[in-house]
Amino acid sequence: MIETVKVKKEQIYKTDIRGMFDGIASHYDFINNLLSFGTDKYWRKTTIKILKKKNPVFILDIATGTAELAIMAAKVLKPQKIVGIDISNDMLEIGRQKVKRQNFSSLIELRSGNAISLPFDDNSFDAVTIGFGIRNFTDLSASLKEIKRVLRTNGVVSILEFSKPESNFVKKIFNLYASHFVPFVGNKISNHKYAYNYLNQSIDDFPSFKEVSEKIHNAGFVNIKNKPLTFGITNIYTAEKK
Ligand SMILES: C[S@@+](CC[C@H](N)C(=O)[O-])C[C@H]1O[C@@H](n2cnc3c(N)ncnc32)[C@H](O)[C@@H]1O
Repeated sequence: MIETVKVKKEQIYKTDIRGMFDGIASHYDFINNLLSFGTDKYWRKTTIKILKKKNPVFILDIATGTAELAIMAAKVLKPQKIVGIDISNDMLEIGRQKVKRQNFSSLIELRSGNAISLPFDDNSFDAVTIGFGIRNFTDLSASLKEIKRVLRTNGVVSILEFSKPESNFVKKIFNLYASHFVPFVGNKISNHKYAYNYLNQSIDDFPSFKEVSEKIHNAGFVNIKNKPLTFGITNIYTAEKK
């Protein structure tokens, strides 16, 4: 019988996001792989492969964390430069070690930065990627405007995020899994009191894919598409700057 620690929503949202990701950084990749049964790799690869026909040369990976998506982009897209930014220095440090181990140091640069105010000039990138980051942004609409600002004309954004499955049956199974198993296993392994309650709560509170698409539209993007994966547990949003 799995017992989950009851954590109040207010306590979860009072947490500082940076501190929480710093706290779980060393276990993050292992737990991701475990809780998704390895499916996270397929989700990330699909997010990157969508960009292939655009042949992006300069890529920005926002909320890069341990650089999983940035490394996937380096392997699949072979661009000239990838910059990954994140607010958590401990996540970035794990990412830097991986980038070095995999010989991508000259291609991938990881640095501190916040999606709310991107530390780059206008029109700097051909593509922007984000994996499981937008759920954590304090102001998604403002961040989307920033993304549009740093993208070049014809540039594209590819965003991977959890979403609520459409089917009631899948929704029920996923809710059970995410609200009991995920916090129990995630908190235990990471030794964090409620990081994986936060994961579940933030998925639950995140707007529907229709609302997210609307925000992307309102930020001035065109050609907005969404691609549900694995029964709609995750969604890839793509959009262009014209
Ligand atoms: C769930 S992790 C995703 C990491 C990675 N993209 C991946 O695919 O595994 C979310 C990351 O978003 C970062 N983050 C949260 N809010 C952010 C913000 N406003 N700007 C930049 N990074 C942010 C966190 O520090 C964390 O590393």
